[in-house]
Amino acid sequence: MSIEMWGARSSSTSLLVAVLLVAVSLAESTEIIVGGTKGWTTGFDYDSWLTSQNIQVRVGDTLVFKNPDPLTHTVAIVGDADSYQRCVLGGATQITPIPAGTNVTVTIPATLEGKTLYAVCTIPGHCTDMQKIHGTVLAALANSTAPPPGAMTPGPLANDADLNRYICWTTAILLIAACFWNSG
Ligand SMILES: *[C@@H]1O[C@H](CO)[C@@H](O)[C@H](O)[C@H]1NC(C)=O
Ligand SMILES: *[C@@H]1O[C@H](CO)[C@@H](O)[C@H](O)[C@H]1NC(C)=O
Repeated sequence: MSIEMWGARSSSTSLLVAVLLVAVSLAESTEIIVGGTKGWTTGFDYDSWLTSQNIQVRVGDTLVFKNPDPLTHTVAIVGDADSYQRCVLGGATQITPIPAGTNVTVTIPATLEGKTLYAVCTIPGHCTDMQKIHGTVLAALANSTAPPPGAMTPGPLANDADLNRYICWTTAILLIAACFWNSG
């Protein structure tokens, strides 16, 4: 089974950042809210939900697991499809508790490129109540909207109109200053 779709996006920090520093700095990364407004909870079919989304999971993306419930969930990784499907959680790794009302962010490591990420809640009964999600991890996008290191950045001047105004005013002020300088 191959699923590439997860939830809503923007941008953020990470849990497994050590593995990823280089990859993330060179590539675009996206924040994906697992389950969208539903968050990370029981009784919601994440695998059906994500097939209905048009979002790809890539190396360097961050998955945000938001706990909407008054009890603790966890997020953990299981290594294979069979454990995932049968909710055999003895071999689960990176088990991170998510206390009520909080969230946990997981960054997709480069080691998962081309593989499937299997994430579950390890609280007894939750995985079998559908609190699990899996998806194929695609390669990071090769390029970035960020300028390359050392490139000149426009700073607070957001666009050409701003830049023109800036040049205009700077020129005007210099001309006025020159007038006073000459007359003084
Ligand atoms: C996750 O929680 C932090 C602090 O509790 C909050 O600032 C942040 O907005 C939350 N992230 C999301 C995507 O809800
Ligand atoms: C990024 O790559 C895409 C397709 O490979 C290309 O169309 C786009 O111009 C590139 N953007 C930058 C900023 O290099």
